[in-house]
Amino acid sequence: MNKRRVMGLAGLVALCAFNVGAQAGDPAQVDRGRYLVTIAGCNDCHTPGFMEKNLAVPEKDWLRGSAVGFQGPWGTTYAANLRRVLAGLTAAQWVEYARLQRRPPMPSYALQRMSSDDLQAIYAYVRSLGDPGDAAPAYVPPGGVVTTPYLVMVPQGAEQAAANAR
Ligand code: HEC
Repeated sequence: MNKRRVMGLAGLVALCAFNVGAQAGDPAQVDRGRYLVTIAGCNDCHTPGFMEKNLAVPEKDWLRGSAVGFQGPWGTTYAANLRRVLAGLTAAQWVEYARLQRRPPMPSYALQRMSSDDLQAIYAYVRSLGDPGDAAPAYVPPGGVVTTPYLVMVPQGAEQAAANAR
């Protein structure tokens, strides 16, 4: 193979890599992904402070994951840093991965019922967000030691309600 041919192949490889990048950054896809993430409520859990402040949280802080756990009979779960998770996957891998069953309170059904096109738009959007930041803390099984703040997701006041009803 002569030198020119090698250069040609290298150029082709570079072009393919560029095209993949261009697809991930397609502005129409990114806009659709932003729209889907917003209306599906992903930020409520995956963005710190979003439940309290809603859209007042700037987009530069979206989907970085939360270090406040959700504790219930399933143990203690943390909403993942989606920027980091998606940075480790190709778009095709993401479409499979997104549909896996998760622990509460992740609404797994939302991603399981989402079309592949919509999942790819979410991929393009999340990948466009840049700087991933730190991972969320790891899942702690029931009875394990929890070292972060957490919300207890257990119905309260059942005994009082029953007493009042008597
Ligand atoms: C009510 C809170 C809540 C909402 C709303 C929510 N998530 Fe989650 N999500 C979680 C929690 C908690 C986990 C961790 C579950 C576990 O440990 O199995 C999680 C896990 C995930 C994971 C798996 C990450 C990994 O690699 O471990 C993905 C992907 C994900 N969420 C995407 C989304 C998307 C996209 C949306 C919006 C459609 C969304 N989530 C909405 C709470 C939420």
